[in-house]
Amino acid sequence: MASLKTLLRCLPIILSLFVTFNLSEATEFVVGGNKKKWQVPSSSDEFNEWAGKIRFQIGDSIVLKYDSKTDSVLEVTEENYKNCNKSNPIESHSDGNTKITLDKGGPFFFISGAEGHCEKGQKLEIKVLSAEHNHLPVAPEPSHHAPAPSPSTAGSRPKTLWFVSGAVVVGIISLVL
Ligand SMILES: *[C@@H]1O[C@H](CO)[C@@H](O)[C@H](O)[C@H]1NC(C)=O
Repeated sequence: MASLKTLLRCLPIILSLFVTFNLSEATEFVVGGNKKKWQVPSSSDEFNEWAGKIRFQIGDSIVLKYDSKTDSVLEVTEENYKNCNKSNPIESHSDGNTKITLDKGGPFFFISGAEGHCEKGQKLEIKVLSAEHNHLPVAPEPSHHAPAPSPSTAGSRPKTLWFVSGAVVVGIISLVL
């Protein structure tokens, strides 16, 4: 049983590793959920409803998948987002599989670069938590977006999964000892 005793001594280290990983891991989110594309949505607020369910943190990234022949992604100012104004974007992407790292807190604004798409609701506002919120433990996601989304469409946070599996592993080890 000596090895198990060693394991027990390592328990705090294992636990803290899981917690550290849980808090520092950057998460990648496919915009709209894993099966969705960046295209004119069926309901005009679809992308922002998706984004509203996620607590984005600095270092997380979003991935937009779209047909590069017919669509693109523009990062724009709030003013140009509101007006669907495609001139002078901050950034422009048209590779069909665009990954954008959310490298600072605050809002990010994206619209489609395709003619008329933004007006039909192909626009996205991402709110990233500011730095002082960044290292708080994972809190329950805001519950004001009823009904609860199914995990496959809501872009659930793998972080929470890691934390739960960490806790389960630690629990099992404690039981064995
Ligand atoms: C669009 O934005 C540009 C600068 O970002 C501005 O000069 C132009 O007037 C805007 N156009 C409209 C129609 O608002």
